[in-house]
Amino acid sequence: MTGLVRGPSVDRPEAPPRLGGFRLPWVGHALPFGHNPVDFLRRARRRAGDVFAFTLLGQPVVFLCGPAAQEAVFRADEAVLSPREAYRFMTPVFGRGVAYDAEPEEMDRQIGHLLPALTSRRLAAHAQVMEDETEAYFGSWGESGTADLVATMNELTVRIATRCLLGPEVSRRLGPDLPGLYRDLESGIRLAGLLNPGLPLPAFRRRDRARAAIGRALAEVIAERRAAGRLSGATRGEEPEDMLATLLSARTPDGDPLPDETITGLLIGMIFAGQHTSAVLAAWTGVLLLSHPGHLPPLLAEQRETVGAGGPLTVPLLRRMERLEWCVREAERLHPPLVVLIRKALRDFRYGRHVVPAGTLVMISPAVSHRLPEVFRDPDLYDPGRYAPGREEHTVPYALIGFGGGKHRCVGMAFAYQQVKAIWSVLLRRYELGLGAGPHPPDYSTFVPAPRSPCLIRYRRCPALDRPGRTAEAFS
Ligand code: HEM
Repeated sequence: MTGLVRGPSVDRPEAPPRLGGFRLPWVGHALPFGHNPVDFLRRARRRAGDVFAFTLLGQPVVFLCGPAAQEAVFRADEAVLSPREAYRFMTPVFGRGVAYDAEPEEMDRQIGHLLPALTSRRLAAHAQVMEDETEAYFGSWGESGTADLVATMNELTVRIATRCLLGPEVSRRLGPDLPGLYRDLESGIRLAGLLNPGLPLPAFRRRDRARAAIGRALAEVIAERRAAGRLSGATRGEEPEDMLATLLSARTPDGDPLPDETITGLLIGMIFAGQHTSAVLAAWTGVLLLSHPGHLPPLLAEQRETVGAGGPLTVPLLRRMERLEWCVREAERLHPPLVVLIRKALRDFRYGRHVVPAGTLVMISPAVSHRLPEVFRDPDLYDPGRYAPGREEHTVPYALIGFGGGKHRCVGMAFAYQQVKAIWSVLLRRYELGLGAGPHPPDYSTFVPAPRSPCLIRYRRCPALDRPGRTAEAFS
């Protein structure tokens, strides 16, 4: 049996061409791929075209590129192209029986339990948390100075994600340890995990220790909330409902509360899926914007017209910040936090004239496909105006895929966009900013490539949004 047939149809199916060049037996192309997957895939595509095969540590891989191929992958039946089998290496993060380790129907149910925490009503409440945490964080910056943009965005999104998803008690319990714990979770995702995520590697041990520490804190908080008969983390005053509260009130099809391990696994999974990815998107938004200061005046004008000098930052106001949204989208296009997405072929998968045999890892890449000149004009150019009415280059189906597509498209996209926009709205209104001397290439040594360190910005507090001469000049 074969999967969905897409693209140009022909009579005689054939195997995708194999990539040549230097490769070791069994290891295949793992060395150049591991060193810089995006550069490797871009160069390979220039040589071999939109569909080609290669090997990573004994695992056959087929790479597919372009909107039609991406649509075919995202819409394929899960019995043909399985995310579950591809992402099994995440089980040590999510836990047994949670997300990709569950049967597809159970995973769907688990994702369904998260959705009430991501509705527009709940996002409206989170907007206030995002603004408060951002103002509080930058409140400690003082009048002027320099800061590392990646570390800043990481620390800030840790605070926001912890409060919105896990609740205030976890922030209080683990406090300053949280950024390190989240970093250890993320750095435990390595190419070697494809082979076996249980290998005795130091990075995997750190991942497991971090998972256990967060899991313990969450288990204590869950027990406390259950014992006190309350869902939310508010002990006094108002605290918007966090995702833990949503999961505590969720029920299985039999009407039982969700097991504690499922709640813990889903929450850790959400932190994993959403925190560092958002930090990286926020950092790239800033690097791109500050290295193209010509785009700042209309953005500042938009801030003046929407929120002015004050707040509060509401969802309707954030929605009106169209230009800021284009800048975030351009960062998503040029530097998508997840550079490759994968599925495992459980049966032969047919795409156009190619047949991908069962057992192959099917790979697509937002980072490669976002630079196709047939979809995005001058694709290497920073041009947020490409999303303006009349151009709207992102509306080509399955072309902009930084948040995936089809059934498994990211459920946290609105949360992530809102967060990045809230952070930059506060920063733009409060500070004159400049970017340290570049270049600022992506750091491919991590799973979610941020601008390489050090990535310094210089800031000076600026009470008047419309003060003349606000610029973002590079400094060295
Ligand atoms: C900039 C930030 C983010 C990026 C770039 C991002 C990207 C993605 C991508 C590409 C996928 C699809 C993976 C695939 O098809 O193989 C995905 C799925 C997912 N994301 Fe995100 N994400 C972000 C933030 C978030 C946040 C904030 C949350 C939760 C609050 C979240 C939760 C999820 C979940 C649960 C899935 C799996 C959905 C499913 O399989 O049905 N993500 N994300």
